[in-house]
Amino acid sequence: MSGLTRPFLEIRNRLAARCGLYLDESRVPQLTKAVADRMAARQLSHVSDYDQLLRSEEGAEELRLLAELLVNHETFFFRNRPHFRALRESILPELHQRYPAGRPIRCWSAGCSTGEEPYSLAITALEVFGMPPVRTTKICATDISLPALQRATAGVYRGRSLTNVTPTQLATYFQPAEGGYRVRPEVQSLITFQQLNLLDPFPAWAKGIDLIFCQNVTIYFQLATSRELISRFYDALADGGYLFLGFSETLWGIFDRFETVELDGAFAYRKNVQHSAARPAPKVKKPEPPPPHVRSAVTISRRTIDDAGESPPTVSTQSGAARDAVQRRGGYPGASASAACRRPAAAGAGGAAAGSACRCRDPCGAGSCRLASCRSRAVGSGGR
Ligand SMILES: C[S@@+](CC[C@H](N)C(=O)[O-])C[C@H]1O[C@@H](n2cnc3c(N)ncnc32)[C@H](O)[C@@H]1O
Repeated sequence: MSGLTRPFLEIRNRLAARCGLYLDESRVPQLTKAVADRMAARQLSHVSDYDQLLRSEEGAEELRLLAELLVNHETFFFRNRPHFRALRESILPELHQRYPAGRPIRCWSAGCSTGEEPYSLAITALEVFGMPPVRTTKICATDISLPALQRATAGVYRGRSLTNVTPTQLATYFQPAEGGYRVRPEVQSLITFQQLNLLDPFPAWAKGIDLIFCQNVTIYFQLATSRELISRFYDALADGGYLFLGFSETLWGIFDRFETVELDGAFAYRKNVQHSAARPAPKVKKPEPPPPHVRSAVTISRRTIDDAGESPPTVSTQSGAARDAVQRRGGYPGASASAACRRPAAAGAGGAAAGSACRCRDPCGAGSCRLASCRSRAVGSGGR
């Protein structure tokens, strides 16, 4: 990397190796500023002294503090709404049907940031199982960042964070609080927050997990780091368990032991199953090759509020229960006639310009897509 002195290079490499945070050329200014800030906090005047500190016994904690200045905590409730719809209409009912009474459903929000993702999981579980729930859901939510976890534990949100929360959800699962809305105790009680660097060994509880959400975490991870992490997630999942990645992330080319499953416009990765006889099988898709612009195997676009838009489900791929639910709601009058495209024919909120034809087969309503033919491209990132 040009422009970086040896101690800076050492620091950059340590961040990648210990936290997964790979900073390419474009992020050198951010790295330089973050190191300067930490040196000031430590009253150090030479980068080589700071590098030395990182190698010392205090190094792990100092590296975490440095990483804190460089990670992206962006998140909001019900990010990637098709994922939560698939949970509500297919996956949680399927797990409930499959498991004996008393067996909790176990979820992991890995890289939970300020908590919106695990709370969205908890709310979805309560919507499916009722309050008090007929099936217990246990959610472990982890992040490398202590300040983010402190905000998550406080559970108070406002503004942009709540954009995808419906008025009914707000009234049912939140209560007004100073500075916004506080998540109700019934929701909070499903979640345990814990600090965890995903590159460290997983805790003992990370075995036999039914659902892992690891969305938008590996943005700056290198290929080998992502592959190793995904392989460990695979081991942590129960048979028939699901891994959810961010909307534009794909495992294509880095890990092929998962089945790619399409559920009502959502894409998930399922660990091979022994148990499939008892449940309606979701459609299993062959993984698609990424478009040429995708450099990292795990790519993430820097998307804004409507990660995937509200693309209507494809009725033909739904389970009976989900299909019935759709029919009860009167179907999707705006749904495209094309089997390949799930967007409304006249794309509305979150979609491309109204009336423009979408040639992609993904629910690409928010301006990003994995197919080379689509005009709205995912922005590949992450280093090699
Ligand atoms: C952009 S947020 C994503 C939050 C949420 N998953 C979502 O999609 O809305 C990424 C989170 O990953 C966390 N993270 C990054 N590297 C990590 C690591 N090595 N171990 C644990 N968490 C990490 C960051 O602290 C940050 O809170």
